[in-house]
Amino acid sequence: SDPGLVERARAAKAALGDRLFVLGHHYQRDEVIEFADVTGDSFKLAKEAAARPDAEYVVFCGVHFMAESADILTADAQQVVLPDLAAGCSMADMAAIDQVEDCWEQLAEAGVADTTVPVTYMNSSAAIKSFTGRHGGTICTSSNARTALSWALEQAGDGGKVLFLPDQHLGRNTYARDLGGALEDCVVWDPHRPMGGLTVEQLRDATMILWRGHCSVHGRFSVEAVEAARREIPDVKVIVHPECRNEVVELADEVGSTEKIIKTIAAAPAGTSWAVGTELNLVRRLAAQFPEQRIVFLEKNVCYCSTMNRIDLPHLVWALESLVDGRVVNEIRVDEDTAHWARVALDRMLALPG
Ligand code: 13P
Ligand code: SF4
Repeated sequence: SDPGLVERARAAKAALGDRLFVLGHHYQRDEVIEFADVTGDSFKLAKEAAARPDAEYVVFCGVHFMAESADILTADAQQVVLPDLAAGCSMADMAAIDQVEDCWEQLAEAGVADTTVPVTYMNSSAAIKSFTGRHGGTICTSSNARTALSWALEQAGDGGKVLFLPDQHLGRNTYARDLGGALEDCVVWDPHRPMGGLTVEQLRDATMILWRGHCSVHGRFSVEAVEAARREIPDVKVIVHPECRNEVVELADEVGSTEKIIKTIAAAPAGTSWAVGTELNLVRRLAAQFPEQRIVFLEKNVCYCSTMNRIDLPHLVWALESLVDGRVVNEIRVDEDTAHWARVALDRMLALPG
């Protein structure tokens, strides 16, 4: 990266000192990760966001929903900055609050809303987290989805259901792979069709109502890529993120959040071969960090998460230098009512065991 920009980022960080706290998601570019005080998966970053109540500014190098969650979890006086407002998440955009409210109304008409508990993936807008809090549900991330889903199914009681938003794959994988549930118990709610494209009977019979959302990056890892890796690399271990499709997850040796992927590879002996199914910035960094292992990207035609990549060094420098000049640019602030109920749902997650 541009040495001039690196110097400017260093100088701005030094000038801000303890007034600044920089968080970086594992999918961020190397040039940005270099300036993060803490790196992590979305669960770790949600916990870390509240770890420095003395910092005036939290600069979040990640995507919009993560910065919103950080704003909800940090003290009121702290200001959260997202260096590029265009850093969204295509999955989070697949569930709009009006669609979710509509879905809930239709579940009520079908007579199942009373026994349905919403479980919402972190990758969602604050408005949907707030909906979840108001309706007795919890947030989950890819590292605690199993615990969150077990909790919700217990809350729902016998014959009860979970509405899982917005990632159908994480919902399905957690139910079927982690909890041993049957795929036939899952139905997919399509927000663009009347009654989600389902009949009342299908809704009544289902245990998992999965929102029709997916990650545009992880959805592209294929069964063929897993088979090719097994053919081409002797003794390869396939490790994938649970946002991958169920067929892919079923064929993998290990499945986990970004933090788990890193820890698993870090703990493996030299000479281990890995085909990794998650975002490319992280896979490249792992390959550089563990040269004694063979680490390859699982699918040749999958690219970076384009929205994670919006945060680059020029945007970071601009955000930091603006703060040095006393200007808070790109502040992410969630309105009080939304934040209240979203916090209820996030606190439920943070209180889950483990
Ligand atoms: P993690 O929770 O594993 O960090 O994943 C977040 C994400 O956006 C995956 O696509
Ligand atoms: Fe969203 Fe997928 Fe990018 Fe994660 S990798 S931020 S889920 S689009």
